[in-house]
Amino acid sequence: MEDLTSNIDKIHTTSMGAERIKRNLNLQTDDVVAWCKDAVKQADIIMGLGKNWYTYGGGNVITINANSYTVITAHKINAKVRVMRESDYECLPEFLYQAIFVPEGEKLPPRSVINIPEIFVYIKDFGTQQGDLGVVAEQNGQIVGAAWTRTIPAYGHIDSETPELAISVLPEFRGYGIGTKLMKKLFDVLRENSYKQTSLSVQKNNPAVRFYQRLGYEMTGERLDHAGHEDHLMKKDL
Ligand SMILES: CC(C)(COP(=O)(O)OP(=O)(O)OC[C@H]1O[C@@H](n2cnc3c(N)ncnc32)[C@H](O)[C@@H]1OP(=O)(O)O)[C@@H](O)C(=O)NCCC(=O)NCCS
Repeated sequence: MEDLTSNIDKIHTTSMGAERIKRNLNLQTDDVVAWCKDAVKQADIIMGLGKNWYTYGGGNVITINANSYTVITAHKINAKVRVMRESDYECLPEFLYQAIFVPEGEKLPPRSVINIPEIFVYIKDFGTQQGDLGVVAEQNGQIVGAAWTRTIPAYGHIDSETPELAISVLPEFRGYGIGTKLMKKLFDVLRENSYKQTSLSVQKNNPAVRFYQRLGYEMTGERLDHAGHEDHLMKKDL
């Protein structure tokens, strides 16, 4: 696959494609191709998968054929959420890393941070214990978010009946409702497995505190993590 941005002038579409894109994204312009070229230039992320390029930005995904540079379609990010399969477990290290809160302006921790035992416990031998349940969000064949629970003596532990939740969405896909969809699906999975409540631990200055409260979590205590950060312990009745 040749690079998309260096072939940007080759981008074109059909009249049907232009109509579809205008309709899907409610575009006010008639020059859909120019709009797509701008979107490609400003994209957060461009991914080649199979025979297509997928460009993501501004909450939209544009699908472009990698050989012909024809824009096939464009639509709002609409990730599908499903139960996590065993074959998805290999993505857990990435989503555990992404779940680590980094305040704005601070340096990202090294990838090896997930090997700290207090952190690694969230994924170690996942799938082998009761309470190991999960869901993933898929966008155009790529997993872009994951939420899972474990009943383990970790930061958000309340008791042996209460699975603790971890969640993250890839940075480019945050703020588009994927996290909310993941949480709601995971609550359904927990109810199906007869759990009555779920818990978590979140750094006090993480904006995700609001997200959890919106989803029905209540503060039930305070904890310090391995690095001395102050956490809220939160609980939700299912
Ligand atoms: C928290 C998170 C899973 C939410 O997923 P999402 O798809 O962005 O969530 P939604 O679009 O459904 O909801 C938006 C809410 O997510 C939170 N959020 C959005 N962007 C965020 C970010 N970059 N970091 C942390 N939280 C964020 C906010 O609470 C936001 O609500 P607000 O608009 O009222 O502030 C996701 O933002 C994320 O992965 N954040 C970083 C990892 C993290 O903090 N995980 C929780 C550890 S306890």
